[in-house]
Amino acid sequence: MGNRLHGKTALITGSTSNIGRGVAIAYGREGAHVVVSGRNVERGAEVVAEIRADGGRADFVAADLDGSAAASRALADETRAVLGGRVDILVNNAGIFPANGTQGTDEDTFDRVFAVNVKAPFFLTAALAPHMTESGGGAVINLGSWAVRQGPPLGTAYTASKGALEALTRAWSAEFGSRGVRVNAISPGVILIPGPDETTSNPAEAMMKGTRTAAPAPRTPSARRPSTWPVTSPRSCTASCSTWTVAAPRSPSSRADTSHAPYSRVSRAPVGTPRGAPASASHV
Ligand SMILES: NC(=O)c1ccc[n+]([C@@H]2O[C@H](COP(=O)([O-])OP(=O)(O)OC[C@H]3O[C@@H](n4cnc5c(N)ncnc54)[C@H](OP(=O)(O)O)[C@@H]3O)[C@@H](O)[C@H]2O)c1
Repeated sequence: MGNRLHGKTALITGSTSNIGRGVAIAYGREGAHVVVSGRNVERGAEVVAEIRADGGRADFVAADLDGSAAASRALADETRAVLGGRVDILVNNAGIFPANGTQGTDEDTFDRVFAVNVKAPFFLTAALAPHMTESGGGAVINLGSWAVRQGPPLGTAYTASKGALEALTRAWSAEFGSRGVRVNAISPGVILIPGPDETTSNPAEAMMKGTRTAAPAPRTPSARRPSTWPVTSPRSCTASCSTWTVAAPRSPSSRADTSHAPYSRVSRAPVGTPRGAPASASHV
């Protein structure tokens, strides 16, 4: 157990699986009271149990983030109630990534991708950021994607949705930054869900293989998943309005150093001039 997030509270959407799950467990280990969220109650309970078994604090709040403002507001309200009225950190992680090309994307698929990946974080941030400003500050972390810069021929609607979320990162940084809320994006490379069945296909893998620079992606244990630490705590960073591209570790040797491996591979790619004042060290 560490204490980098001692006394802090965090909501991580889509934390019943893969990246969000890894972030929730890492935050729990650093002392944050974590709200794990998603639709799957069983997987949510498992993540909560794992955090508690580590000595951390966590609760599950079920949510189907269908893109409606009402669903996002309901999650925000229930989370605030569970966390004692304050949410210091919001990680907009829940996302879907069908690997359809443009011709294979029907209107329903397009609308679902934008509902979960753009509208849901939009209304969740709208519901929580004002409370953060009132309570002295906070941090919003959006999950972007490598696909925005690589432009793979598959998952085109997905890529557009992540471009929108990265654009919102810049806009929110300008909107809320001067009031103490730092807003950043993490854009991971392909991170496959670890599992015994290495042959199971994954839409992220399909997208990666559709690029010219395709390379095999590792199945990474949770401790090695991309971390949001660089933009969570001002002890390590006072950045706002930046997108951090996080490469997945590619070789067994590069995976040897577990907890810090992803950080050493982080390349900061500022995507705009921070217009809001950076949050002070008393903030998340
Ligand atoms: N994996 C990659 O290679 C990769 C690369 C770049 C960026 N990203 C981004 O990173 C984020 C997480 O990716 P991942 O690989 O961890 O995804 P994942 O394993 O498919 O997990 C997605 C999470 O989102 C939740 N979710 C999906 N639809 C939802 C809905 N309607 N309402 C509420 N929760 C919902 C799921 O929870 P339930 O099933 O419980 O609803 C699950 O916990 C996504 O935003 C993704 O776009 C991933």
